[in-house]
Amino acid sequence: MRTIIEPFRIKMTEPIHLISKADREKALAKAHNNVFLLDADDCCIDLLTDSGTGAMSAQQWAALMLGDESYAGSRSWKKFEASVRQITGMKHIFPTHQGRAAESLMAHILVKENDVIPNNSHFDTTRANIEFSGGNALNLLCDKGMDLKSDIPFKGDMDVEKLAAVIEKYGVERIPFCMITVTNNTGGGQPVSMANIKAVKKLLIKYKIPLIIDSCRFAENAYFIHELEDGYADKSLLEIAQEMFSYADAATMSAKKDGLANIGGFFVCQNDEWAENFRNMLILREGFPTYGGLAGRDLEILSVGLMEALDYDYQVYRHATISYMGKFLQSKGIPYVKPVGGHAVFLDAKEFLPHIPQLEYPGIGLVNALYIEGGIRSVELGSVMFGHFDTNGKEIPSPIELVRLAFPRRVYTQSHFDYMLEVIENVWQNRTKIGGHRITSQPDFLRHFTCHFAKI
Ligand code: F0G
Repeated sequence: MRTIIEPFRIKMTEPIHLISKADREKALAKAHNNVFLLDADDCCIDLLTDSGTGAMSAQQWAALMLGDESYAGSRSWKKFEASVRQITGMKHIFPTHQGRAAESLMAHILVKENDVIPNNSHFDTTRANIEFSGGNALNLLCDKGMDLKSDIPFKGDMDVEKLAAVIEKYGVERIPFCMITVTNNTGGGQPVSMANIKAVKKLLIKYKIPLIIDSCRFAENAYFIHELEDGYADKSLLEIAQEMFSYADAATMSAKKDGLANIGGFFVCQNDEWAENFRNMLILREGFPTYGGLAGRDLEILSVGLMEALDYDYQVYRHATISYMGKFLQSKGIPYVKPVGGHAVFLDAKEFLPHIPQLEYPGIGLVNALYIEGGIRSVELGSVMFGHFDTNGKEIPSPIELVRLAFPRRVYTQSHFDYMLEVIENVWQNRTKIGGHRITSQPDFLRHFTCHFAKI
């Protein structure tokens, strides 16, 4: 069959509404033109994030009822541990309440002042946690990953030559570990090839530097390897994931993505000393090591969800909806990052709105236009999120201005996608009317969440 269908039917519904255009204008003004400050009820289609926003399966809801809420050594913990061990093969497994909790404890136990932590691209919370411990977070994405237009696979790969140069420059003593983020969220949700993970590991072994995988979207990455990399077509997604983790010494995970859950995360590692230190911090900050800040029912949900994310039919369907959107944008000449990512489509706001200077934040103009046009909430990944100030206080824009449409898992149907495309096309046709913004108030870090904008 040519038509790829959702490999599920819907047993429970949640109503959504499109409030009137006048009310959308009022809501956005009240939110100081920052969509993070909108009420979710005022958003008809919410593409702010794919994190914690997915729909659970009947099996997960059933598992929830089996939750054992014992403080220590619960049955639910055993199931969670078994699933995570089957996938990652790691000796030590620690639940956390979400990804950044794992990152924060990891940075606390492993990162010292002036350390250098390479990654293909750090996610913003990973970077912030490393910097909070005094470390420097370096992005070493391959050159092809910077090219938004080339339709080639594995643009999330790390540049192994740059990594070798960084190790030579800073010395092994300053690099407690190296990270790889699968898929590369901030670089367009692009996958990392197994060949690249292997090559990075080979280099790191030479210098005895451990590898930590940021594994939020490990199952989507495994799907891309299955589809696109030689030698993997006959392997199951579970086998591919197992191979990916086999090259790592540890991993952090936000299970709000490929755990198909609304909350959860973990840290896993092979090293006994790391485990001992992590365990002590976990008890201090998150909870006893067999629940780590989660309820027993959350552990149940995750033990099922992590495996469902590796279901091939589910990944085929997920990718089909996302590439459907890519094909439409391509046919209309609307600029987006090619190829489409594993969890999102990224519109290229710089090309979409070339008349808006970067420090008037074209991404914010586009995000706000999508909201006003059709009640769609998206997020800017550009100069508001990644811009910075130099030592003279001058604002330096980000090299790229993107708008991310992140797709919650198993939530929106084909007609929702058609609606999104209609909204994007209308905005595209009226793009010359969209203006810039200036920031009227901002906090000292992670400003995109709470800053206020005024229209110019
Ligand atoms: N690493 C990556 C690659 C992420 O995408 C995220 C979260 C985290 C770590 C942190 O996990 O939210 O559970 O604490 N990304 C979400 C997003 C928020 O919208 O992309 P968390």
